[in-house]
Amino acid sequence: VCFFISSSFHNDEETLVGIINVQDRDSEYNGQVRCSIQQGVPFKLVPSIKNYYSLVTTGKLDRELVSDYNITITATDEGSPPLSSSKSVQLSVADINDNPPVFDKQSYSAYVSENNKPGSTLCSVSARDPDWRQNGTVVYSLLAGEVNGAPVSSYLSVNGDTGVLHAVRSFDYEQFRSFKVHVMARDNGSPPLSSNVTVSVFISDVNDNSPQILYPSLEGNSFMTELVPKAAHGGSLVSKVIAVDADSGQNAWLSYHIFKSTDPGLFTIGVHSGEIRTQRDISESDSMKQNLVVAVKDNGQPSLSATCSMYLLISDNLAEVPELKDLSYDEKNSKLTSYLIIALVSMSTFFLTFIIIILGLRFCRRRKPRLLFDGAVAIPSGYLPPNYADVDGTGTLRSTYNYDAYLTTGSRTSDFKFVTSYNDNTYCLSRNSVLKSIFMSL
Ligand SMILES: *[C@@H]1O[C@H](CO)[C@@H](O)[C@H](O)[C@H]1NC(C)=O
Ligand SMILES: *[C@@H]1O[C@H](CO)[C@@H](O)[C@H](O)[C@H]1NC(C)=O
Ligand SMILES: *[C@@H]1O[C@H](CO)[C@@H](O)[C@H](O)[C@H]1NC(C)=O
Repeated sequence: VCFFISSSFHNDEETLVGIINVQDRDSEYNGQVRCSIQQGVPFKLVPSIKNYYSLVTTGKLDRELVSDYNITITATDEGSPPLSSSKSVQLSVADINDNPPVFDKQSYSAYVSENNKPGSTLCSVSARDPDWRQNGTVVYSLLAGEVNGAPVSSYLSVNGDTGVLHAVRSFDYEQFRSFKVHVMARDNGSPPLSSNVTVSVFISDVNDNSPQILYPSLEGNSFMTELVPKAAHGGSLVSKVIAVDADSGQNAWLSYHIFKSTDPGLFTIGVHSGEIRTQRDISESDSMKQNLVVAVKDNGQPSLSATCSMYLLISDNLAEVPELKDLSYDEKNSKLTSYLIIALVSMSTFFLTFIIIILGLRFCRRRKPRLLFDGAVAIPSGYLPPNYADVDGTGTLRSTYNYDAYLTTGSRTSDFKFVTSYNDNTYCLSRNSVLKSIFMSL
């Protein structure tokens, strides 16, 4: 018994797979042959002309389910006893490109922190195609599209062979928080089949923005000064620091703290409201000028902060404030002020020595008491610099009061008081005129 397989075909129903020829050299019944194949395979034998059979399919073949068949054909003659032989036929199902690539997931999500490095890996997509060789070889690509008006390829790239997505640029959470791209998987068949999938990219926030203080604003160096009524009671709202943070969540959760203040127990700030309130009633002894440095911090890790200065004037009326400008330059000029104080102290030491010498001279020559201040130094108290405008409204400064106010170092107080009392009944040589003359000589 011999078998011949002429060829194999792609399948349709009842597709002819091969022609089988059977021969038996006996004669009559002993030479009459019947052929059969085993059960359970999608093939059958169809008798055609004498000793020829067609091997045909009984249904659709799917290479992706069963790619190879081992068909055993048995031929039996009608003799008594019958003789038979069998032969197995290897049958391979040829591929056609009938499967598009299929992604492992319906959609993909990628999470990336902002300020990522360009080129960093975001995620990878994967599609399978069960077809054979190039009919099942998958190539990945980005579908054209736009993100924020720019081509998607300026944001992402995909490795065609591996499906790994890379960031092309650094993302900024403050610009956009997420975007979507479509990735296509295409096989190399002819014609090719493809499918696409959506990849959502979510950018997470990094604490890269410091708090921004809106009020008090520092624009153009205009210093915001708040008036606090003298009658303000404890708990009165005085002002409010307003700040924003471009980040989000904890990174934008702001807290306010008084960093520095002229009088630490006088004002308090709401940790989350930024409201500045008096902590107790204002009293007469409180300094008129109050300066607060407020720090605004976010709650990021690490946290970022910003500071601002707030100038508060305890007064009911702006008109009685001597020099607003002085307030704003207080801090800048504090160094200069300390130099001035040092200069004043040394000048006054010099001056005191001078007076002592003159006094000594005076005691020697008892009849010439007014010699000392007749000259350049003595200035009538009526002539006072406008800066020192009177506080009590009498036209002259109360000398002891002003002296204490302006010469805060204290060490030379008694020396100057001596000078003052000496001049009480002659020229009114107030401390201010002394200061004035020292200023002039400086
Ligand atoms: C095909 O089937 C026959 C009979 O069952 C067996 O002898 C043969 O080894 C099989 N061939 C293959 C490749 O499986
Ligand atoms: C791929 O499929 C096409 C038909 O779609 C077929 O002609 C070709 O032979 C197949 N290639 C392979 C390698 O199987
Ligand atoms: C993407 O695939 C869907 C079905 O999965 C299809 O409807 C859509 O047209 C495809 N889009 C493109 C651009 O190929």
